[in-house]
Amino acid sequence: MTELPTLTRRGLIVTGSATVVGASTLALAACAPSSEQPDTTAPAGLQSGTELALLADVPVGGSLGVQVDGSAVVLSQPEEGDVMAFSAICRHQGCVVAAAGETFDCPCHGSRYDSATGDVLNGPSTQPLIPIEVTVTDDRVVVA
Ligand code: FES
Repeated sequence: MTELPTLTRRGLIVTGSATVVGASTLALAACAPSSEQPDTTAPAGLQSGTELALLADVPVGGSLGVQVDGSAVVLSQPEEGDVMAFSAICRHQGCVVAAAGETFDCPCHGSRYDSATGDVLNGPSTQPLIPIEVTVTDDRVVVA
């Protein structure tokens, strides 16, 4: 029969502390500003003429999130007929932001963006969402 190694109480305390320090270090590394380098290009795969949404699906004064050709996109219509679109990739660490009316909210660390402009309202992100140029054609919002 194999005997398990025995640990003294002091050994357990030291081991436990090392684990806690390791977890804290990982948490800090996940939030470190130096890792704020998400993709800064417009979503790949969105060709000119690609339909993003029906105009009627983008609420006036609100916003909408969609997946198109593998790209996460958020749209808003601050005033009737004035449609904005952005890559939904958060500029902090690359999570997908969610449409939340007049804001786009990141579920990962709480960044919030103005849905009319893509500008940062609350960090930790420091850079605006990447805009996608769009036009409205036959009541459809399409990539320009
Ligand atoms: Fe950190 Fe969005 S990825 S706030």
